[in-house]
Amino acid sequence: MLSGNDIRQKFIEFFKEKEHKHYESASLIPDDPTLLLTVAGMVPFKPFFLGQKEAPTPRVTTHQKCIRTNDLENVGRTARHHTFFEMLGNFSFGDYFKEESIAWSWEFVTDVLGLDKDKMWISVFTTDDEAERIWNEKCGVPMERIVRLGEEDNWWSAGPVGSCGPCSEIHVDLGPEYGGDENSKLGDPGTDDRFIEIWNLVFTEWNRMEDGSLEPLPKKNIDTGAGLERVAAMVQKKANNFETDLLFPILEEAGRLTDTKYRASEKSDFSLKVITDHIRAITFLINDGVLPSNEGRGYVLRRIIRRAVRHGRLLGTKENFLNVLVDKVVEIMGGAYPEIRTNKEHIQKMVRIEEEKFSHTLDQGMNIVNEEIEKAIEAGEKKLSGEVTFKLYDTYGFPYELTEEICEEKGVEVTHAEFLEKMEEQKERARSAREVVKEKGQDTFIEEFFDKHGKTQFTGYTEHSTKAKILHVKDNNEGNYTIIFDKTPFYAESGGQAADTGKIVGEDIFGTVLDVQKQKDIYMHTVKMAEGGHKLVAGMELELSINKYRRAEIKRNHTATHLLHKALKEVLGDHVQQAGSLVSQDRLRFDFTHYEGVNREQLKEIEKIVNEEVFKNTAVDVAELTMEEAKEKGATMLFGDKYGDKVRVVDVPGFSMELCGGTHVERTGEIGLFNILTETGIAAGVRRIEATTGFTSYKVVNQMEEGIIELSKVLKADASHGQLITKATKVMEELKGAQKEIEALKAKLAGFEANSLFENVEDVNGVKVLMKAFKGKEAGSLRDIVDKAKDKLQSCVVILGTDNEKAVFAVGVTKDLIGKVKAGDLVREIATIAGGKGGGRPDFAQAGGKDGSKVEEALAHGMGLLKEAL
Ligand code: ALA
Repeated sequence: MLSGNDIRQKFIEFFKEKEHKHYESASLIPDDPTLLLTVAGMVPFKPFFLGQKEAPTPRVTTHQKCIRTNDLENVGRTARHHTFFEMLGNFSFGDYFKEESIAWSWEFVTDVLGLDKDKMWISVFTTDDEAERIWNEKCGVPMERIVRLGEEDNWWSAGPVGSCGPCSEIHVDLGPEYGGDENSKLGDPGTDDRFIEIWNLVFTEWNRMEDGSLEPLPKKNIDTGAGLERVAAMVQKKANNFETDLLFPILEEAGRLTDTKYRASEKSDFSLKVITDHIRAITFLINDGVLPSNEGRGYVLRRIIRRAVRHGRLLGTKENFLNVLVDKVVEIMGGAYPEIRTNKEHIQKMVRIEEEKFSHTLDQGMNIVNEEIEKAIEAGEKKLSGEVTFKLYDTYGFPYELTEEICEEKGVEVTHAEFLEKMEEQKERARSAREVVKEKGQDTFIEEFFDKHGKTQFTGYTEHSTKAKILHVKDNNEGNYTIIFDKTPFYAESGGQAADTGKIVGEDIFGTVLDVQKQKDIYMHTVKMAEGGHKLVAGMELELSINKYRRAEIKRNHTATHLLHKALKEVLGDHVQQAGSLVSQDRLRFDFTHYEGVNREQLKEIEKIVNEEVFKNTAVDVAELTMEEAKEKGATMLFGDKYGDKVRVVDVPGFSMELCGGTHVERTGEIGLFNILTETGIAAGVRRIEATTGFTSYKVVNQMEEGIIELSKVLKADASHGQLITKATKVMEELKGAQKEIEALKAKLAGFEANSLFENVEDVNGVKVLMKAFKGKEAGSLRDIVDKAKDKLQSCVVILGTDNEKAVFAVGVTKDLIGKVKAGDLVREIATIAGGKGGGRPDFAQAGGKDGSKVEEALAHGMGLLKEAL
């Protein structure tokens, strides 16, 4: 029987024989602002379908990692829902069409996989006579097993706009025990679990426009997708994807780690399946650079980690088991996706950090739920409102289902509807916020502009000054303009590199360029016009010049960022991935994945490695290559880089090679001194280094030097002869000695004071009473005096107060006397006079008051009370 891994391999081989080029799976993070995650095999190829880009080769085959989260609640409940899955696909970009695509898919499922022809059902789009004919005549599928279905089933698009088309699907009939009866047909109600769709062939020939209309694409294309897990289930005769060899070992391991047997109960099976599904998504998301956070992809990851942890708890485990389970995923899938092997340690560490964090949240949430329940019971309500359950979920990340469970145990009511209502309200708030942010007008303008003029030509890799023609100008009032030129030497902010600034000059025209942003490679210059703003018109030629000193500083920082990236990998390990960067004039900032602080020694080492590369003064090589060439050379890629593109490779030979669109120095020596300023943590598992180069480093060193000189003056030491540290150490030692002496003297003084105090002891009805008012004494010393007096006098009452602007009182009563007078009561009465309150034990109590000037009066009052009591 074929294993899941065999099927994947056979599929690729099959299409390679049919002259398809095999591409590795693209990242789960698509290079496509309209998509959060890669949801289908065709995602990396969208521009080829739309004709925006020429495909590098007309036939392609892939096994693509995908994640879909639209149906999260169903994952684990059904036999076939997943977050993470693999899509096997073959693609034609304007090459073959329906005929070949249908015939090949039939050949693969029947010949290669050996699935039973008589169990196959085919669906085609309502009007697709051609597909129906091919299935029937060419493949021999009888007409009674070809069904025509409507748009909902047999029309496919990746989103509301863009490439799309009718599709045709291959289904396997599992038989009447899974729904319907002998006479049921594909598409009949109640047969969803019986007819299993295994392969979708999309005939991508249309482009859906914003207004909903369809326009034919320049070429007819093929996009197919077969879910590997489903296909494996059919081949391995399993009614359930989780029982295939792709998933079952993970499920078993999850069972072992949580001490749960498969098929023990429906509820525990559900939890095991959720964990099994989610750990694959978790592994691959982290592998592709996603980190848990509260938005976007990071939130998807956080949500599924939490869901998996929670299901672990439902199975009764409090251990951090998820990170261990990563091993199994790597074991099964590391052959097809070797990068998860390389990144395993990093992935496990990330999972563990998040697991621990969420376990803490759960424990904390548990306390808060219990508090809320107590409050509700005390208020006689026996119900938690939607407000409370939603707050628990939203603020503390505490899952509603858990709140519900605990409430059930305690006989307190909650309603899911109320919770959902609050959730909806919040979603609504988020939605309206998003709508405000989205500037649709701008997008349309850019689209139209692009269609008319194409992209702005960037001359700034080689020129500092360029003569350029205005294509568009917009007056934003008060001398501010937005201008688009046909070409420009100004680098627009991107890839973390700051935009260039500079000037534009013409006859009686002068403006300062403050910022440059680009959209779809159209460069928009924000310009403050000092002269001649009103004269600007399309067609006019101006001289555009960047501030080259600023650019030089930025270049140094950018190349240094590449060197730093490489040095980090060398010192900390290969798990280090770039998580963000900022390259500006005065410094660089580099964020990267690493699970603990980088220690001083490591930082020194990193700094040294970078500086060594600088001192070598290596010539930096920049080349335009195809993605494949770059990959072959071993260039470091960031997430979302696409096939078929020409990419810019920045190479510091023998050290670092990265894809990058930024501007760089010609030789590393230009960087000057590389100096790390700080290293900090910015999120769980993400660290940040800030550093300087060039002139800024010089300034930083200068300032340090100034500081040292000042310091030597203060310490009267000659810094240049290494005296500073000896002198500073000596001064600190002297200071320490002096402090010790002061402490000793203070203690001695207190002793004297205490002794002289006892001269004040009064006899009140046969009881020794010590009463005294101080000024500016610490509360602690009052306590010491009370203890001393008790020791010395054996049986006594001590009443002390001090005026520290505010009033502080301490009262002590020896044990033999607490039957007559209690320290706590007495101090309370005394403090009242000074506008305060307090209390405490019967043998010792302290109190404070607002008004220090009332201390004497308060003590006198205390003495009065004492006389009455004794
Ligand atoms: N793109 C098609 C799908 O995802 C093949 O079903």
